[in-house]
Parts: sequence; C-alpha cells; structure tokens
Amino acid sequence: MRERQVFLQPVIEMNIVETEKQLAAREAVGYLKNSMIVGLGTGSTAHYAIKEIGYLVQQGLDIKAVATSESTAALAGTLNIPLLDINTVNSIDITIDGADEFTPDLFLMKGGGGALFREKIVATITKEQIIIADSTKLVSKLGKFKLPVEVIPFALNYVITQISQLKAIPLLRMVKAAPFITDQGNYIIDIDFGLIDEPPLLAAKLDLIEGVVAHGLFINLANKIIMGKGNELVLFP
Ligand code: A5P
Repeated sequence: MRERQVFLQPVIEMNIVETEKQLAAREAVGYLKNSMIVGLGTGSTAHYAIKEIGYLVQQGLDIKAVATSESTAALAGTLNIPLLDINTVNSIDITIDGADEFTPDLFLMKGGGGALFREKIVATITKEQIIIADSTKLVSKLGKFKLPVEVIPFALNYVITQISQLKAIPLLRMVKAAPFITDQGNYIIDIDFGLIDEPPLLAAKLDLIEGVVAHGLFINLANKIIMGKGNELVLFP
C-alpha cells in the first residue's frame, strides 16, 4: 500500500468535521493519474486535497493543474504543483472542489469562499467534477446557506432591486467594513431565498439578470460527491 498521507495529523487530534474533510480529500485524490490536467478547488476541504496532491507530485505524480482562485494558486505554488493558465486549456480531466451544501441528486451551493465564478468556469470544462465534503454539507433542500452571487460593482443597485423582486433578501458581503472583492474585482451578495424548491428554475432566473457574473447554484456540474461521515466515506451517486 502506498504511504502517501504523511502530512495528516493523527485522527485522534482532529475534530470530526476536519477528519471527514481529510478522508474525502484523500479518497478523491486517489482518482488522479499521470498526465492528467487537474482542477484545484478552493476552500478548507479542497485545501486538504491540494496538500495531498502536492505530496504526490513530490513523489513523482506527473500532473498539471488549473487553480480556481488566487489563494489556491498560491498554495499550489508553495507545493510545487505545476500550474497552467486556464486560457491555454480546453478541457480538464478531473477537478476536486468543495461545496457549501449539496443534495443527494448532486445540486450544489458554492461560493462561501467567494471563488464561485472561477470554480464554475473550471467545472464547466471539467470531464469529471468530484466534490468533497464533510457530512454537515448534505441537505435535502439547498438554501439554509445563503446563495452567493458575484455582481459587477456598476450593476450592484440594479441587481439588488431585481433580486428583491424575487422575494429574497440580498446582503452585500463585507469584510472589515468594506465590500468583499473577488479575484475578478467584483462584489458578492449573499441572498436568503429560504429553502429552494427548484434549484434549476432559480438558477435560470438568476442567469437572466444583467450584471450577475455568476451564482453559486451548480446544476448538472458535479459527477460525484465524496462525503466523509465519521471515519467512513459515503459516495453520491
Ligand atoms: C469557495 O468559493 C467555495 O465554493 C468552497 O468550495 C466552498 O465554500 C466550500 O468550502 P469549505 O470546504 O471551506 O467548506
């Protein structure tokens, strides 16, 4: 058996959610093969996968990667994972990314870390999108987590007005009394829609609003979800 988890802390020292994230990350990384182009997600769960990939690259795994955020690119850089400019890539073999919520039918809510636009572009050109998550992310309906929407600053007031007409409560994401700025230089609004009965329908409505760059509903983009549950793994589908 390959020894490739040396960076992992002993399970006994971690809280259960972190253990679940690490187990899911380690399982997902097992799908990578030499010569693949790999999408690297963003967030605390993807972080574990990227560290594991860094270790495998150090051991000789021959892959090239595309990052979904500046922070992920920086982490990959420190681990010597070779990175490609996404504009030189037509297709990505496997992407490993996290989610803020998911349903058993593979609808996702993403964007808690603000990287949803790049995550969505990467997911769209990925052949196999693997989502890794701890068990707190599994829901029967999306919507407890507020839906992140990336907005061009010039269109902020217009977009907020349009969203309010959908009977939702939009809130501009702030960091230290200033608007949160995405890697594209845009704002994020976090929207409370309540529980979302039909994610594809809401996604279609949001796609029609001028000024919306991307929203955190990922419909038909995930191929597999690997969830840690205690010391076990649960796979969807
Ligand atoms: C980043 O913008 C998000 O889409 C993350 O993938 C999502 O927030 C999951 O993050 P955690 O793994 O930190 O929960």
